[in-house]
Amino acid sequence: MEEKKILENRQGEVFTSSNTNSSPVRKKLLLESYGCQMNFSDSEIVASILSEAGYTTTKEIEEADVVLLNTCAIRDNAEQRIRHRLDHLKSVKKKNPDMVVGVLGCMAERLREKLLEEEKLVDLVVGPDAYRDIPRLVEQVEHGSKAVNVLLSREETYAEISPVRIDSNGVTAFISIMRGCDNMCSFCVVPFTRGRERSRDPKTIINEATDLFNKGYREVTLLGQNVDSYKWNITSKGEVIQPDEPTVNFAQLLAQVAEVSPELRVRFSTSHPKDMTDEVLDTMAKYENICNYIHLPVQSGNSDVLKRMNRGYTREWYLDRIAAIRRIIPGCAISTDVIAGFCDETEQEHQDTLSLMKEVGYDMAYMFKYSERPKTLAERKYEDNVAEETKGRRLTEIIDLQMQSASLRTKQHIGKIQKVLVEGVSKKSDAHHYGRNSENVVVVFPRGNSRIGEYVHVQNVDATSVTLIGEIVH
Ligand code: 5AD
Ligand code: SF4
Repeated sequence: MEEKKILENRQGEVFTSSNTNSSPVRKKLLLESYGCQMNFSDSEIVASILSEAGYTTTKEIEEADVVLLNTCAIRDNAEQRIRHRLDHLKSVKKKNPDMVVGVLGCMAERLREKLLEEEKLVDLVVGPDAYRDIPRLVEQVEHGSKAVNVLLSREETYAEISPVRIDSNGVTAFISIMRGCDNMCSFCVVPFTRGRERSRDPKTIINEATDLFNKGYREVTLLGQNVDSYKWNITSKGEVIQPDEPTVNFAQLLAQVAEVSPELRVRFSTSHPKDMTDEVLDTMAKYENICNYIHLPVQSGNSDVLKRMNRGYTREWYLDRIAAIRRIIPGCAISTDVIAGFCDETEQEHQDTLSLMKEVGYDMAYMFKYSERPKTLAERKYEDNVAEETKGRRLTEIIDLQMQSASLRTKQHIGKIQKVLVEGVSKKSDAHHYGRNSENVVVVFPRGNSRIGEYVHVQNVDATSVTLIGEIVH
């Protein structure tokens, strides 16, 4: 069946997923995901739980018995998009009143029962730690009552659940290594919607990576809100929990995943500048199959703004981490997240963000206007006082600068011969394959005899602003 995937931006991604399984058809599920990679990964866990309960998936809304939206709450516009989708579902439900409509994820956790009052057609509200409960909750709805489970957990990591890979290309996959976040950046709603940070048992992570490799996958991306604070068998104060069991930090976990096979590429997201250690960088340098790419959100280039954001580092600290990356992994690609117009941001502070971006020369960036979120520290402590127009102008300046930087960075690959993992057929031409180099740049090249899921060496001969054009070399 044809699959649909509309990519918009990192936290604004939307897709409609569909896969089939062999269990007897009882009920049909339509599962839509919005937001970050973690949400997409969570949807694969939800699909697994519901497939065990006998559901098959569909992408035809007219034939769905259950429609679940896995939602994002990071910015107001993410929630608006979901409300529009719910509006559309109203007309479908008029024709099919038995259809169960559920909201999962961050918006469910943020609004809880209020969502049932505000959006009358919603039957089911389930937070990120309660997905095992969905089959029971759907039954409750079928018996005539609305159902809510938004309990957050300190333990749930869905460790042993084998995700159903949705819309998979059979080559690249996400592996969730931890959940929640303890950082409390003042602008961010995630600690409220995803709860306390907890790490997943490394054995189950290695098993999942090995299983994917054996099924033909050649790249895994380890996911967490702050992967650098991954820890197993160690408390947050650094004490060992079980003395006879090994402890594992993020650098060690990375090495263990890289050891699954030299043919398995490893990526990870997201790193935190205050926690990223040289040990992680040394591990990346040691293993050829750990990709030369780090996503290191800066948010602002001004230390006073960073303080108001409660980020736990200064501009100088951040630049020191960049210098460490450049020293230990020469040629490593670096991407970032930037917020324009945070509370009290002055013109000079904004200029500091631009100057930092110039200094770093990012390969890629996700750039946002500040959006005040209820309950966050910033909402309680500061005023959202940068005019909308000013936020817009500053964001445009940031984007313009980044476009120049990205284009320069892409061009630097021209002339080089690089190892590319073939991911699929180019959308524009059947005669071309596309894949990515270690630095995460998409490379398009005449397919020749190359097969999806294998590595080829490609010489880059040209580039558009963000894509390389290459030729296979033997
Ligand atoms: N407003 C704008 N951007 C935000 N982000 C998180 N919270 C907000 C907010 N309230 C951005 C940050 C973060 C990324 C995932 O989303 O840049 O790194
Ligand atoms: Fe939000 Fe900060 Fe945690 Fe990232 S590290 S999820 S921005 S609180």
